[in-house]
Amino acid sequence: MNANEVHAVMGPNGSGKSTLAYALMGHPAYVITEGRILFDGEDLTELEADERAQRGLFLAFQYPHAVPGVTVTSFLRSAINAIRKARKGGEDDPVAIPEFRKELLEQMDRLKVSRELASRYLNDGFSGGEKKRVEILQMAMLKPRIAILDETDSGLDIDALRVVARGVKDLVSPEMGALVITHYQRILEYITPDFVHVFIDGRIVEEGGPELAHKLEAEGYERYEAKV
Ligand SMILES: Nc1ncnc2c1ncn2[C@@H]1O[C@H](COP(=O)(O)OP(=O)(O)OP(=O)(O)O)[C@@H](O)[C@H]1O
Ligand SMILES: [Mg+2]
Repeated sequence: MNANEVHAVMGPNGSGKSTLAYALMGHPAYVITEGRILFDGEDLTELEADERAQRGLFLAFQYPHAVPGVTVTSFLRSAINAIRKARKGGEDDPVAIPEFRKELLEQMDRLKVSRELASRYLNDGFSGGEKKRVEILQMAMLKPRIAILDETDSGLDIDALRVVARGVKDLVSPEMGALVITHYQRILEYITPDFVHVFIDGRIVEEGGPELAHKLEAEGYERYEAKV
């Protein structure tokens, strides 16, 4: 996939979509036994998750974890500084605090994330929807090259879905592409995918354009499951 493109991955429960996201991101619990991950001509397969993040990969989790003791603000500042440091070849280059705060407040307002969340511990006691919005806030602040969104639409109320989807859409540009894992056509009404991939049993079994998502919503996956 390329920057400026939106790819949707749709598939039944347990087909391996989250596993794909974790494998791409370098989650230590997953070992890649076959295939390679190539990004900008570089093989990332052996790199650690933080090294992949420094190169611009980002994953918004289906089930974000709480990080008690670390506020949203300090988490974001450390993550940004880690990326800036890596880009400077290991030399510290911390973001200026006023600049950081200004952008954080702007992005929070844009994504309608309550300002009160910034000083709370990351995801600690957050509602399901608040966690998802804060995932997108992280994406907006970190400005990845490729953003993987694992069911970011699940559990969002109607207004939040629209805000979050537009937030993602605004970031898709020559600087960023998005891989959107979803069960529902609805988020794709706001973020029109360039490609839709049907994922069954760990494999892509069909590819198409946005019309494929409509077809899946109408027909389900039975047609594919009969084949595998
Ligand atoms: N750590 C693990 N050890 C063993 N099996 C696992 C592990 N993690 C996931 N699985 C299994 O791998 C399969 C694929 O899981 P995965 O979470 O990738 O599915 P998914 O497509 O994201 O499903 P959903 O739509 O429900 O989120 C499932 O059968 C799951 O139980
Ligand atoms: Mg999943």
